[in-house]
Amino acid sequence: ATRKLLLLPGDGIGPEAMAQVTRLIDVLNSDFNAGFETQTGLVGGSAYDAHGQSISEEDMKLALAADAVLFGAVGGPKWDSVPYEVRPEAGLLRLRKDMELFANLRPAICYPALAASSSLKPEVVEGLDILIVRELTGGVYFGDPKEIIDLGNGQKRGIDTQVYDTFEIERISGVAFELARTRQNKVCSMEKHNVMKSGVLWKEVVSATHKAKYSDVELTHMLADAGGMQLVRWPKQFDVIVTDNLFGDMLSDVAAMLTGSLGMLPSASLGAPDGVTGKRKALYEPVHGSAPDIAGQGVANPIAMIASFAMCLRYSFNMIEEADRLEKAIAEVLNDGLRTKDIMSEGMNEVGTEAMGDAIIAK
Ligand code: NAI
Ligand code: MG
Repeated sequence: ATRKLLLLPGDGIGPEAMAQVTRLIDVLNSDFNAGFETQTGLVGGSAYDAHGQSISEEDMKLALAADAVLFGAVGGPKWDSVPYEVRPEAGLLRLRKDMELFANLRPAICYPALAASSSLKPEVVEGLDILIVRELTGGVYFGDPKEIIDLGNGQKRGIDTQVYDTFEIERISGVAFELARTRQNKVCSMEKHNVMKSGVLWKEVVSATHKAKYSDVELTHMLADAGGMQLVRWPKQFDVIVTDNLFGDMLSDVAAMLTGSLGMLPSASLGAPDGVTGKRKALYEPVHGSAPDIAGQGVANPIAMIASFAMCLRYSFNMIEEADRLEKAIAEVLNDGLRTKDIMSEGMNEVGTEAMGDAIIAK
């Protein structure tokens, strides 16, 4: 089978990290007959430099036609003063919007070898494996009205509006329940129904979706502030957490910091299943940015990018065994003591981006 991937390495450390995935794909093709077909496009500052847009129409078409998009990172001081509409981030926002990527998956996994260097006690995080499913295209970041009004008396008013419709809550909770079935079969939904109407609807629709189609999954509800507390107190109580755009933004960053460096954290963004093929549009990217402070030095941690590719194998191509194996390879090189600079600790063996890639590929 042909598996079509669009690679968008982007700026800064994006290309350095993506290069490790490219080598991995070559090995999967040559040694395992995986049939990946890759195309490479430009996004962010590098696209702006080439043609004045943060992503070209041609690359947008490739993204929409691909089975999955692998995205590196965009941005950097070089493009701080380019016009707002063509700033590097605009390329990523355009991809999310045109591909209708409404479900953002942020795993927080604590590799045993790194448990000791977490910001929490090792016993709290060791073996941690949770997945936050954040609604990405609705809520207060997008709702109307959204404006600053001049009240005329020296006062201004800033307005953002939280809006959620039934179908948006149904589809995001559907993703969460489906993912839970492939994991520990548990979903915790977080909102604030005590103070928000959208929270009342959220809870109602998640419960109705559960009852109609997913009653085999264990569902619990938590107020989002209490959820934040529980995430820090005893995160292992959770399997899948489903929440809205704003709470998901914050809760996923909190969960991320339970597990260590930005250089370790992958993500996936999924769209709705195609009516004919049932395939979801999908984009996979590390959580980190372009890290201009270390770009070009060969020291970036490629694990976030490689783990994002593992998510791609799992969710876009149903290559579960391969994804498991790749994630296991990451855990093993960490057990062996290999560390990039960002996760280096005493007595460990510091390696660069490529050597880390080599070691994971060898495993
Ligand atoms: P950043 O994630 O690029 O870097 C924050 C810190 O973490 C830096 O000290 C960096 O060296 C370190 N770091 C990040 N990834 C690493 C890795 N893989 N290995 C080792 N160290 C790593 O965030 P920052 O500095 O706030 O933003 C830099 C640029 O990236 C900005 O232009 C920003 O707009 C952009 N950005 C892009 C994102 C994206 O493409 N999705 C997301 C976040 C920021
Ligand atoms: Mg955030």
